[in-house]
Amino acid sequence: MKNMLVTGGCGFIGANFIHYLLEESDYSGRIINVDKLTYAGNPENLAGVEERFPERYIFFKDDICDKNRMADIFDENEIDAVCHFAAESHVDRSIVSPDDFIQTNIVGTFNLLETTRERIKNIKLFHHISTDEVFGSLGIEGYFTEKTPYHPNSPYSASKAGSDHLVRAYHETYGMPVTISNCSNNYGPYQFPEKLIPLIILNALEGKPLPVYGDGKNIRDWLYVRDHCAAVWEIMKRGKIGETYNIGGNNEMENIKVVEIICDILDETAGMLPAGSRRGLITFVKDRPGHDRRYAIDASKMRDDLGWQPEESFETGIKSTIRWYIDNKKWTDHVISGEYQAWIKKHYT
Ligand code: NAD
Ligand code: DAU
Repeated sequence: MKNMLVTGGCGFIGANFIHYLLEESDYSGRIINVDKLTYAGNPENLAGVEERFPERYIFFKDDICDKNRMADIFDENEIDAVCHFAAESHVDRSIVSPDDFIQTNIVGTFNLLETTRERIKNIKLFHHISTDEVFGSLGIEGYFTEKTPYHPNSPYSASKAGSDHLVRAYHETYGMPVTISNCSNNYGPYQFPEKLIPLIILNALEGKPLPVYGDGKNIRDWLYVRDHCAAVWEIMKRGKIGETYNIGGNNEMENIKVVEIICDILDETAGMLPAGSRRGLITFVKDRPGHDRRYAIDASKMRDDLGWQPEESFETGIKSTIRWYIDNKKWTDHVISGEYQAWIKKHYT
């Protein structure tokens, strides 16, 4: 893999993956980052990368749905591997307005697959990033394995399921060298503050209400983003073509517990609010429609076949994530105020 196309590299996980590949991994090739820079894509997530790795990193502001642009980018950069992160990723947005989810997640993935198929002789691997949400909801027992049937419940997860099926079908039908990973909830630096953990950190810092959907007892399996990046790179290097891999943190927690932990850490490190503990800010709000009750990943295939295990515990990961949001106030101010969007407009239109 000499010239890897990374899609969605200015988003949360994509940016962490590019940092990981260039700064921590044994990858020695080039990265070609294609990102449309939607509200979730922020070039500040990769500040300084172009300067530090001028021979190994290049960015194109483009839409994966644009077939002609994708063809040119593949040909001009001699793409021989794809790591496909680009997606609309937020469940609540998919409930209010599903259109972009169908377009980017299904049509965009199809478009990339077609561009890849037309150059199949040059392609060593197409790795598709997906989610545990395609499996639907678990009861109080059991885990998602690679054999769990798909049962998506939101427009987001249905669109991701559709893209997973397309990727698998291109392997079966055209012999495309693909791998797929289905990962649990990530947290860490550069996550857009619409997602639970960064939203709660920033609201709690400012003394704003902390919205918890329903009874707060929905369960997610939290994974530190760097562990996800390491898992993806391991699959890209050593995964079996045509296989899917479940990635998880072995770290199930009720949402209310996550929120309480963040409150307690902030009370300790930033001091109590005048009204007392930040737990007092917790506000139960209307539940998300179709809210999946529990996700939990059985990641034993990653462990047994590829020797991967998460390194970060939730205790250490959440502390360093909170620290990151406190230390990167400029980033959060830009994101919350939308200032980064003004910068994108100025530089790219
Ligand atoms: P994100 O929303 O932070 O980033 C998505 C990126 O894709 C953004 O930079 C955006 O500009 C870009 N993008 C969107 N539409 C595009 C298009 N048409 N063309 C080019 N670029 C486009 O998302 P994330 O949380 O980093 O998730 C990345 C991937 O990982 C997604 O495929 C998501 O389904 C998957 N995933 C996320 C999680 C999680 O917890 N965040 C867990 C499992 C899987
Ligand atoms: O499981 C993997 C998925 O995790 C990814 O595929 C998605 O891209 C990613 O967004 C994430 O989806 P969730 O819906 O699980 O994440 P979110 O942070 O939106 O919500 C986590 C839980 O917290 C969920 O049960 C809903 C709840 N929640 C969320 C928000 C934003 C609240 O209670 N209050 C909130 O304000």
